Amino acid sequence: MNRRQFAVRSLAAAAGAVLHRNSYADASRFADQVSGAVRESSVRDAPFPEHFLWGTATASYQNEGAWNEDGKGESIWDRFTHTPGKVRGGVTGDVACDQYHLYKQDIALAKSLNQKSQRFSISWPRIQPVGTGAPNMKGIDFYSRFVDALLEAGMRPWCTMYHWDLPQALEDRGGWPNRDLSKNFADYAGILAKHLGDRITVWAPFNMPWAIAFMGYAAGAFPPCRTSFNDFLKAAHTLALAQAEAHRAVKAASPKATFGSAYEMAPAYPKMDSDDDRAAAARYHAMNNVFFLEAAMHGRYPKAFVGEPPYELMGFKAGDEKLLYAPLDWVGFHYYTRRIVSDASKEQFLGGGKFSGTEIENNSPGGRDPYTRFRAAMPTEGPLTEAGLEIWPRGMYDLVTQISKEYNHPVIEITESGCGYLDGPDENGRIPDGRRIQWYREVLAELARAISDGARVRAFHAWTLLDNFQWAEGYTERYGFIYTDFRSQKRTIKDSGHWYGRVAASNRLDV
Ligand code: FCB
Repeated sequence: MNRRQFAVRSLAAAAGAVLHRNSYADASRFADQVSGAVRESSVRDAPFPEHFLWGTATASYQNEGAWNEDGKGESIWDRFTHTPGKVRGGVTGDVACDQYHLYKQDIALAKSLNQKSQRFSISWPRIQPVGTGAPNMKGIDFYSRFVDALLEAGMRPWCTMYHWDLPQALEDRGGWPNRDLSKNFADYAGILAKHLGDRITVWAPFNMPWAIAFMGYAAGAFPPCRTSFNDFLKAAHTLALAQAEAHRAVKAASPKATFGSAYEMAPAYPKMDSDDDRAAAARYHAMNNVFFLEAAMHGRYPKAFVGEPPYELMGFKAGDEKLLYAPLDWVGFHYYTRRIVSDASKEQFLGGGKFSGTEIENNSPGGRDPYTRFRAAMPTEGPLTEAGLEIWPRGMYDLVTQISKEYNHPVIEITESGCGYLDGPDENGRIPDGRRIQWYREVLAELARAISDGARVRAFHAWTLLDNFQWAEGYTERYGFIYTDFRSQKRTIKDSGHWYGRVAASNRLDV
């Protein structure tokens, strides 16, 4: 760390400490000193279009609980959390927020915060307990009631068909590296569109397809915990095929359907101003940000590899480019933080990298793999959230404008964006989470700037409505606008939730 970085980090830490005790208002005092911070005037004047859709995002396994009720089958996350040593604190999502039973209350809370769009996911093993065959009508009924409740509350139901809870029975048949799963997934997608497509018009097949493949099959941090780069390549190809097959199945079953995505993305900046690092950052962008987007929009894979994609290892067959092609009606992606990328073509492949619970790479020991040959790190120039991610509001602007430009100004939805802070109730039962408010003010100001510069963003979904099960981190990270007491299931709206409610009502950030 050089002297400048040291000074910046100390100031950031001081700002964080002050914010912890007081409120976000203090943050503006530091705006000039904290690396990456946005000026207060940009927050005050941030314009959002009329009818902009404010919402939050949730996921079945993280919220629902009821892991074995009403005929639901076992998922790979049930298996993983029931295996000792996998999740921090040894906890599971067996109950989580018990949303399977408390959904009406949670939807009423979202309504009280003036929300207009609710991104949620459907648990595949609730619908098809072993991943194939006739639907379990109790599962369909649950989501049907859920969607009705959203519509009654004036919210747009936004459905992710798969947020990581694969039926264990399909993993037992080889999991995502098994190409057959693209057909299984299309059947499942068709069932959803047939039974719910009269009311749901906004569909996305996968939450974070890269993470599904990489975290599950190459890094081994998530179920099924494999560590084979070849399995990762095969899984990625099956997921891209499944994305397109599901697109066709949904459109065939529901004429009103629109089809998009929920990709994870992080803007990538070259570490050095060199050709090698610039090329490495471009490979990162191709692999981690637009791999599946390019497949859908153009029926091909982007230049993510040094040289040609390893087609054979991926299980790519002649004619697959036609199968992959399924242009999206709108493009959805998440923003949490950024990456600094350097060339690793001369380094040894050490494998993996250290990932946080949000699948964000904290650092990677060497080149990530023998094909993409880059090293991606999360910088710590800006302050960190309590969940350990760098706060870099400007990344939102850079990412949105880049995707806009590269894909000819598509309609964009921000599918997730948020920050982990552990603030709990004070002695009066209030939750003063000023740091979360400040995080959103700055990131949203940067989103507004991208919109002013021409990006066609129509919705923002904050992650998340209420504190929930945070994957391998268990209950040790809190991302919600609503505090969940996991012992009593009591919900308390945090200061940030009240603030976001006012933002949604006024379209302004200085509220
Ligand atoms: C994202 C996941 C989401 C949640 C947030 C914090 O990577 O999509 O389920 O865990 O991170």
